[in-house]
Amino acid sequence: GSKNIQAKLVLLGDMGTGKTSLVLRFVKGQFYDFQESTIGAAFFTQILSINEATVKFDIWDTAGQERYHSLAPMYYRGAAAAIVVYDITSMDSFERARKWVEELQRQGNPNLVMVLVANKVDLEANRRVETENGELYAHENGLLYIETSAKTAQNVNELFYEIAKRLAKA
Ligand code: GTP
Repeated sequence: GSKNIQAKLVLLGDMGTGKTSLVLRFVKGQFYDFQESTIGAAFFTQILSINEATVKFDIWDTAGQERYHSLAPMYYRGAAAAIVVYDITSMDSFERARKWVEELQRQGNPNLVMVLVANKVDLEANRRVETENGELYAHENGLLYIETSAKTAQNVNELFYEIAKRLAKA
């Protein structure tokens, strides 16, 4: 039969990169042009069935504002998967994403499934971080890489599906 997996998943990344928007797109199929900034963290659950397993995600959507940085370990501790998000229109957000990856490599679960997400690809005209830069960094660090838009829903289900597949293999 098929496996049942319960997995803690954390989203990390600079403020305004679209963490909450990605989760709301996945969990509720909704998107807001004026999404409010998260305070502390928000919790969501979603069940995803794939061929190999049924995965129940316990999702911690953390706040990107720097003043909340010290809370992050509470949310990534014990996580099976981490989504590190940047905004393709902001080089600063890519640099911040790399800092999160370094912190997770130092202090996260050693078997952590990590995905680098380049969000807001609907804003291609304002792109500041090239696909090759994100892909190369992800490849060098053993991360999955995926380009998404929470606004258009591009690749959002695929993102969580890929994570579920990885977790089912483990
Ligand atoms: P913090 O809670 O402050 O850490 O921010 P966050 O990373 O959760 O970002 P949030 O989801 O609140 O989105 C910030 C802003 O970007 C909102 O105005 C969203 O509507 C917008 N946004 C999020 N994803 C996308 C996207 O894929 N494309 C576009 N064009 N805008 C997006």
